[in-house]
Amino acid sequence: MQVRFAMENELDRINELRRQVNDIHVAGKPDVFKPGFSKELRDHIYTIWNDPEQKIVITEKDGVICGFAVLHHIRRPENPFMYERDFLDIDEFCVDEDHRRQGIASAMIDFIRLHAKEEGFHRIELNMWEFNRDALAFYEAAGFSTYRRYMEMYL
Ligand SMILES: CC(C)(COP(=O)(O)OP(=O)(O)OC[C@H]1O[C@@H](n2cnc3c(N)ncnc32)[C@H](O)[C@@H]1OP(=O)(O)O)[C@@H](O)C(=O)NCCC(=O)NCCS
Repeated sequence: MQVRFAMENELDRINELRRQVNDIHVAGKPDVFKPGFSKELRDHIYTIWNDPEQKIVITEKDGVICGFAVLHHIRRPENPFMYERDFLDIDEFCVDEDHRRQGIASAMIDFIRLHAKEEGFHRIELNMWEFNRDALAFYEAAGFSTYRRYMEMYL
């Protein structure tokens, strides 16, 4: 297994994994997420690719890309409530459904932590949807903890 940054000719395969994430979100929150995988969603990978503040990490195993993560450098200026914030956000994260529970996501987090430290970050952040218990179990096992919540009430 090799974890590394993606190459441009790998973006179509990464989109196959992005579609898996979208399908999970549609199944879990159908009133929020649009079903299918529109051209706009597909093309968004090129916006990510062309943004100097974003990087795509992949895991390759036996010549197959079986996981990816999108890293986004976020800078928020100081405001009356908060100090300036500067952190690495994991914006998208997925391991192919046929390759889960083999340590691939853990290897990607190890790679991301090392990269973030080398780049001088002091903090990694991510957000996830509450219905996604598999992701929560993984992120907690990987050492993340919840620091903020979104709450809702259906009427
Ligand atoms: C969440 C996800 C990334 C985990 O990837 P993975 O490669 O299977 O994770 P790992 O094999 O590295 O798991 C490491 C540990 O995390 C925990 N874990 C991972 N998946 C779990 C699950 N479905 N249920 C409970 N614990 C889980 C376990 O402790 C596991 O160790 P173990 O296998 O020795 O028990 C993967 O399930 C996935 O891509 N899901 C769909 C996309 C998604 O939800 N992305 C995140 C939100 S955007």
